[in-house]
Amino acid sequence: MKFHTTGLLTAITWVGYTSAQHFKRLGACPKLGCVFPPDQVDFFPGQYFDIRLEVHAPVNGSEAFNGGVPDQQFSFCIQKGDGACEDVSTFFNMTSEPELETWSFSYYEDLFAQDADEPTLVNVASKAYRALSLDIPGHYTAKLSYYNGSETVAHWLVRESPKEAKAKNVLLFIGDGMTQAMITAARLLAHKSINGRYQSLMQMDQMEALGHQMTHSIDSFITDSANSATALYTGKKSSVNALNVFADSSANSLDDPKVESVAELFRRRTGGPIGMVSTAFIADATPAALCSHTRDRDQYPSIVYEYLFGASALNGSFTWPTGCEGPDVIFGGGAEQFIAGPGSPNGTDFYKVFQEKGYNVVYNNTELQATGNDEKTLGIFSISNMAKWLDRQVYPENLLNQANSPTGDGTDAVDQPGLKDLTLKAIDILQARADKQGTGWFMMSEAASIDKMMHVLDYDRALGELLELDDTIRATIAHLKKIGQDENTLIVVTADHGHGFDVFGGADTKYLAAQTSDRKKRAAVGVYQNSGLSGYTVEKDSSPLNNTVVIGAQGPNFPVTWDPRYAYAAGFAANPDHREGYAVNKSGPRLPAVEVETDILDNVVNPSDQPDGEYHAPTSVCPDADSFAGFVVNGTLSVDQPQGVHSLTDVSVFASGPGSEAFRGVYNSIDIFFKIADALGLAADASDCDSD
Ligand SMILES: *[C@@H]1O[C@H](CO)[C@@H](O)[C@H](O)[C@H]1NC(C)=O
Ligand SMILES: *[C@@H]1O[C@H](CO)[C@@H](O)[C@H](O)[C@H]1NC(C)=O
Ligand SMILES: *[C@@H]1O[C@H](CO)[C@@H](O)[C@H](O)[C@H]1NC(C)=O
Ligand SMILES: *[C@@H]1O[C@H](CO)[C@@H](O)[C@H](O)[C@H]1NC(C)=O
Ligand SMILES: *[C@@H]1O[C@H](CO)[C@@H](O)[C@H](O)[C@H]1NC(C)=O
Ligand SMILES: *[C@@H]1O[C@H](CO)[C@@H](O)[C@H](O)[C@H]1NC(C)=O
Ligand SMILES: *[C@@H]1O[C@H](CO)[C@@H](O)[C@H](O)[C@H]1NC(C)=O
Ligand SMILES: *[C@@H]1O[C@H](CO)[C@@H](O)[C@H](O)[C@H]1NC(C)=O
Ligand SMILES: *[C@@H]1O[C@H](CO)[C@@H](O)[C@H](O)[C@H]1NC(C)=O
Repeated sequence: MKFHTTGLLTAITWVGYTSAQHFKRLGACPKLGCVFPPDQVDFFPGQYFDIRLEVHAPVNGSEAFNGGVPDQQFSFCIQKGDGACEDVSTFFNMTSEPELETWSFSYYEDLFAQDADEPTLVNVASKAYRALSLDIPGHYTAKLSYYNGSETVAHWLVRESPKEAKAKNVLLFIGDGMTQAMITAARLLAHKSINGRYQSLMQMDQMEALGHQMTHSIDSFITDSANSATALYTGKKSSVNALNVFADSSANSLDDPKVESVAELFRRRTGGPIGMVSTAFIADATPAALCSHTRDRDQYPSIVYEYLFGASALNGSFTWPTGCEGPDVIFGGGAEQFIAGPGSPNGTDFYKVFQEKGYNVVYNNTELQATGNDEKTLGIFSISNMAKWLDRQVYPENLLNQANSPTGDGTDAVDQPGLKDLTLKAIDILQARADKQGTGWFMMSEAASIDKMMHVLDYDRALGELLELDDTIRATIAHLKKIGQDENTLIVVTADHGHGFDVFGGADTKYLAAQTSDRKKRAAVGVYQNSGLSGYTVEKDSSPLNNTVVIGAQGPNFPVTWDPRYAYAAGFAANPDHREGYAVNKSGPRLPAVEVETDILDNVVNPSDQPDGEYHAPTSVCPDADSFAGFVVNGTLSVDQPQGVHSLTDVSVFASGPGSEAFRGVYNSIDIFFKIADALGLAADASDCDSD
């Protein structure tokens, strides 16, 4: 089809020079007047949010305007439908007008400006209106007027939502960074196929509804986990590193305009118990976005402080009338935020603060299994991220010499629960507490290290985590049936973004190791008809006379072996320089690239990762013999990146249980929030209607 270039050119000319480039003056604000929540935002009826207005006056650079003096006389009105546009304070019946704030910030317009260290300076005039809500569904128009006739218009929609709940409980599983290509690869490793027919399937393959969702962020096409969790839990796209706020341009990361999460809304509307489960450190983005609000996901002490005390309690924050009020279950790693010290809130023993708030605190799997179901429970099982499934189950010696006990006593955290242990126990606690109050419950359970291991190109560990997630979903469905909650519980499984990953063939690791040149080693990769069949589901020494299906030590639905001679060959694009040998790294997670001394930040292959070496087939005498050997793969990323990065792909959504039919089709990440809130019937009561 012929392209109408004239239309395109007209459309482009008014767009600022800085829009849609590497660096932006302020994401989601291409004009000099900014409204947050910005254009195209949808709200759930009654959901709390803040408004932030900014007027920019760039002092220099390509957009320099008005001598760097921002208009302080800006006005802002809101109209419902075709009604009159009422001044914001009239519209919301405010008794006082917020104070005018002013500040400056700077940014680079492009890479040339960055190399030359010539930042553009911008002066700002701003106001923020806190803790508002719109209860009545319909279209709203918000207009910021500034600089004698310039206007920034935001179209907002308060979506309709059914008043009746379909599901009493919701369990949202997040496979962090999990793409369909990874699920396909995990199926290949763990499920036997005969002549092209799988003899068993992943649990995810068997859910009632399948959809897929778009993960891009509000102002960049690649998202991080903070921003994407915000979309999944609040129904609002935001910026990289932002947790449940729209990113403003001020330096204070706690003053950005907040939005209410599904966990907060569930707590506020139903009073029901909330569960937060992750194999990451518990202040990490995906769990944090359930309850915390900050522009900067790295503020771990504030993030965990907010779990207990809410956003208003944070020094430098503002009124926020909602919160998680201490989730009933918090399970994960990240003891560094609880042991008294530099990582804990105000340096206090934060375990003790939880205990004072009535929490039962547990530190290992034995204690977890033994503990009762009646109390709020904090389970912290390691310093930093929890151990990976492959290390816990196949190479347990890697748990030694870590000095990562959650108590901080310097011993090793060897008795760590897996995602299945965590999730099943969390269900029991939430159910016991919900029964007492006559409510349902809400839980998020995250397989965090699919992403963490994909970042370091450790595909075996990533797929082990993915199989553990699948095993957890399978066990969860069985457990819900057992306790009679399967018909009350909506289960949703999705990811927050992808990574460049797919399988393109098989690799003969023995042949690869025997070659001396990098180019010859690559001949070990077999493609198309030479890609072979899975070596993971058959016993190492199975003979043509005996094709018994052997169940691995870790049970069905996991590989029989992780180090067959013929391994899967996987990878793709978004990588730093690294060595590749297509063999499992038995001594722990990989470290693909290392920084070298140069005048720029430069990461090159780690010479000790998948190093050249002899191939030793594992034997009964030497079961863990190394069988590595790699060749150099040059990266495609900027050399300042030591790891693989997130990618654009849409990710799958699987759902079962009441309300699951809504998850069919193709939609945006933000729709997951609305679908869950609809299923739980969290819409405001008519009696709450007070917005206009
Ligand atoms: C803008 O002004 C600031 C402050 O004087 C200066 O540091 C910066 O280099 C200038 N940037 C450009 C793009 O001229
Ligand atoms: C806006 O109008 C006022 C009064 O006419 C004038 O003093 C001011 O310079 C104008 N500002 C801009 C940015 O055009
Ligand atoms: C330290 O405690 C004060 C209240 O005493 C609180 O406002 C502040 O947010 C706490 N700081 C952190 C990082 O938790
Ligand atoms: C709160 O912030 C103020 C100003 O930054 C600071 O002086 C004060 O020490 C802080 N208080 C706590 C408890 O962190
Ligand atoms: C579990 O934690 C408790 C309390 O810290 C401790 O007494 C016990 O020895 C731990 N058990 C194991 C197996 O690590
Ligand atoms: C087939 O292989 C399995 C696993 O190695 C072994 O236990 C079994 O005895 C073998 N059966 C025959 C008939 O050789
Ligand atoms: C390829 O990788 C090696 C090892 O990291 C590095 O020395 C070399 O400069 C890379 N080549 C390019 C074109 O980046
Ligand atoms: C396993 O990974 C670690 C961390 O990158 C590395 O030091 C080690 O050499 C790797 N082992 C092999 C045999 O590749
Ligand atoms: C503001 O007050 C008017 C008149 O009392 C009322 O109809 C409207 O619902 C109120 N709006 C809000 C947002 O409270």
